Amino acid sequence: MPTDLHAWHSLLQHHEAIRETPMREWFAAGDAAQRVEQFSLEAAGLYLDFSKNRITPRTFALLMQLADEAGVPKRRDAMFAGDHINATEDRAVLHIALRAAPGASFKVDGKPVMPAIHDVLARMRVFSERVRGGGWTGATGKRITDVINIGIGGSDLGPRMVCRALSHLAGGGPRMHFVSNVDGTELAETLERLDPEQTLVIVCSKTFTTLETMANANSARQWFLAGGVAEHQLARHFAAVSTNLEAVRAFGIDPANMFEFWDWIGGRFSLWSSVGLSIALAVGFDAFDDLLAGGRAMDEHFGSAPLARNMPVILGMLGIWYRNFFGMPTSCMAPYSTSLELFPAFLQQLEMESNGKSVQLDGRHVRAHTAPVVWGSAGTNGQHAYFQLIHQGSQIVPVDFVAPLRPPRELPGHHAKLLANCFAQAEALMRGRSAEELRATGLSDEIRIAHMVFEGNRPSNTLLMDDVTPHTLGALIALYEHRTFVQGVVWNINSFDQWGVELGKILAKPIEGELTGGQAASASGHDASTGALIARARAALGGA
Ligand code: F6P
Repeated sequence: MPTDLHAWHSLLQHHEAIRETPMREWFAAGDAAQRVEQFSLEAAGLYLDFSKNRITPRTFALLMQLADEAGVPKRRDAMFAGDHINATEDRAVLHIALRAAPGASFKVDGKPVMPAIHDVLARMRVFSERVRGGGWTGATGKRITDVINIGIGGSDLGPRMVCRALSHLAGGGPRMHFVSNVDGTELAETLERLDPEQTLVIVCSKTFTTLETMANANSARQWFLAGGVAEHQLARHFAAVSTNLEAVRAFGIDPANMFEFWDWIGGRFSLWSSVGLSIALAVGFDAFDDLLAGGRAMDEHFGSAPLARNMPVILGMLGIWYRNFFGMPTSCMAPYSTSLELFPAFLQQLEMESNGKSVQLDGRHVRAHTAPVVWGSAGTNGQHAYFQLIHQGSQIVPVDFVAPLRPPRELPGHHAKLLANCFAQAEALMRGRSAEELRATGLSDEIRIAHMVFEGNRPSNTLLMDDVTPHTLGALIALYEHRTFVQGVVWNINSFDQWGVELGKILAKPIEGELTGGQAASASGHDASTGALIARARAALGGA
């Protein structure tokens, strides 16, 4: 149990001692520059300033001690060694092999995996270069102008986020579209803008059984057929990304157009695999390769830096400090970059599907809280929507600010304004504004002053990169992957399964039958509320 660890107890006591201390006192002290020096670091092209946190050198030392006592280095090494650390699915967890250096050697169950990885990467390069170069055409010989990635969850959020972030590097490649929802509106609205003769669909699904993806893939196939592409010509318009060759074949996609990946890659960690085919198509394979190199640089840092200079460990342990000792239930990701606007959504799946668990590896309940609710959106938009709560709400929300120092697309004067706002938010959250400061400006209405006081002492990290490049983005994604892993180790949970998504899926199947088939809702043993909802929907859909 993490709560039994010596460092956990020490942190509980230490928390009592410093929980009310305002950070601004530490920044007012003579050695504030030293604080920034101690609580900042650079790795893999990213600069992290974590000095605006409610920590002292003692807190930091205890958090690092907790990481050590919880076995972070040991579990990290086990992951890197290909051990079956995903115990409930009896699988290795080796997404790091996907971005490993060419000469690296990784094994799963004693079998080297690098040859297969390189084989798929080489095929991705050939295919993406042919499509981008016009060598791969649709069935009628026309160039592919649009690519739709049909997938959901890990088969959508990662590549969608990366394609959005790197859109400034598209350089004449095909337009990318992502369709995930089984709500037909998303696919219909995408298709109505496209020409079947010039469209390529990637059906991206680890299992190739996911309801949403298969429904969308089948509807896309009908759209091609209705648009004049004959059955035997569909191979020019479909590629598959999956671990399930048989299902790909059964769907009718030519196995020659299938890009494989493996069950030792979790869906939410899979954008580095053939799941990234859409990325290679959107920005070119060389850029995809740079993304892998950025991830690799962070892996090397995570694998070798001492705990107290290890960025994923530091971010992970700060999250534990706020979640478990201050009891903060949510955390906010605020990228000050429109390019990174989908990063919060990606992070939501990464953290909440990985660490939204309440049972330890040994089957006992965790006695501590696990993953917080993760939310956020691009700045400065959030400032004009929900930052009010972050500044003056009744619960404290730790924020991660992420910003590129130079913009992907420049308009004179804009980027300085963006960065100024980012830094000002972090400063305001830390410093706050006291009643005395307000009175000093001449204000005397005490009720008004009470409303205008900012308590401050609200923590944040600031993470900077020079530019949004494939390399820095790769490092950023790998940083948060490893941060998620570190927290899972401390909570002693399995970050790599997702049993919690199963029950809803199982229950949806019979309900669909009741909505569309002959079976009456009341006959199927639902609770009264669900039964009434089904009856109402059945009536609207024209059923009995
Ligand atoms: O339902 C959750 C989930 O299993 C995710 O973990 C996964 O990323 C997503 O569904 C999609 O799964 P697949 O790639 O097999 O279609």
